Amino acid sequence: MKLRTTYLGLELKSPIVVSSSTLTGSVESIKQCAEAGAGAVVLKSIFEEQILSDIRREEGYTDIYNSYLEAQEYLNTFMRGNEIDIYVKLIREAKEVVDIPIIASVNCTSKGEWTSIAKELQDAGADAIELNIAIATFDRDLDAREIENEYVSILEEVKKNINIPVSVKIGDHFTNISRMAFSLSKAGSKGLVLFNRFYNPDINIEKIKVVPGNSISSREENNNTLRWISLLSSQGIPCELSATRGVHTGEDAVKQILAGAKTVQVCSTLYRYGIDYIRQINADIEAWMKRHNFKDVESFRGIVNKKENIKVVERLQYLRRNYDSNK
Ligand SMILES: Cc1cc2nc3c(=O)[nH]c(=O)nc-3n(C[C@H](O)[C@H](O)[C@H](O)COP(=O)(O)O)c2cc1C
Repeated sequence: MKLRTTYLGLELKSPIVVSSSTLTGSVESIKQCAEAGAGAVVLKSIFEEQILSDIRREEGYTDIYNSYLEAQEYLNTFMRGNEIDIYVKLIREAKEVVDIPIIASVNCTSKGEWTSIAKELQDAGADAIELNIAIATFDRDLDAREIENEYVSILEEVKKNINIPVSVKIGDHFTNISRMAFSLSKAGSKGLVLFNRFYNPDINIEKIKVVPGNSISSREENNNTLRWISLLSSQGIPCELSATRGVHTGEDAVKQILAGAKTVQVCSTLYRYGIDYIRQINADIEAWMKRHNFKDVESFRGIVNKKENIKVVERLQYLRRNYDSNK
């Protein structure tokens, strides 16, 4: 009861949200998340790239056997339908078995056809949509403003036909995160999820080969999220902030809420300790609240964002007096 909160206008029993991943890709594990005390789940994303690559594979097939345009159009529609049907089924079934909010997640890199797809997700019963926008910025001629405008256009496109709340999950690869965040908020994003953790490469020096990097975060990654939750919150951003990346314990979650997060999303820690670990995170937040006499989550949200603290949050370079971290 003490942990009750709201996020994107939805009632949550806890600020702990299970973030988009394979942990939220099946009805069984979503049920487990709800039973363990998650406030909401963000479903595994439906990927634009996945839909497009399925279509391209099928197009290769038609190139050989049947290159009629109508046949290709039929396949495009069929493949699109197929991916989306599976997703719609997941939303419907999840809504039947759990009573916590189900947030659908769309991973998009372009404007695509998200207007109609988002409507299908809403009709299936999704309580909100989290847009995971990840535009690969490896084109050295592309201007930063152009890329940022594309983020806003995607959001506007998705919002056209739906009335459920939309939040946007972004990475931290922007020159001016504040500007990006405020632009998205102005364009109607009800929530901002900070920060997406991208797939990173590594090198196996024995095989002398590029391999996938570690997909599981470390607790230290919490700090950059903490900085931006605190800064955006103190700048009075008019949308709700959800912290993700490196939140592994109840202590990490408390810090994010003190910095101003409305909810805290967890993923890697559940891969490490199991879905049931949500109980421990909730219990640790409650125990901390009891120790500090906070009766509800709202009474300590954002309270560290005082002027003198923000100066520390804004500091990028080390000064001699910063070396002693306890001062
Ligand atoms: C195996 C795995 C799958 C993921 N799949 C998605 C996904 O489909 N969509 C998405 O937005 N984020 C996805 N993520 C990112 C997580 O939602 C989360 O933002 C990220 O792992 C950082 O949080 P953490 O430090 O708690 O792991 C995935 C992460 C992992 C480890």
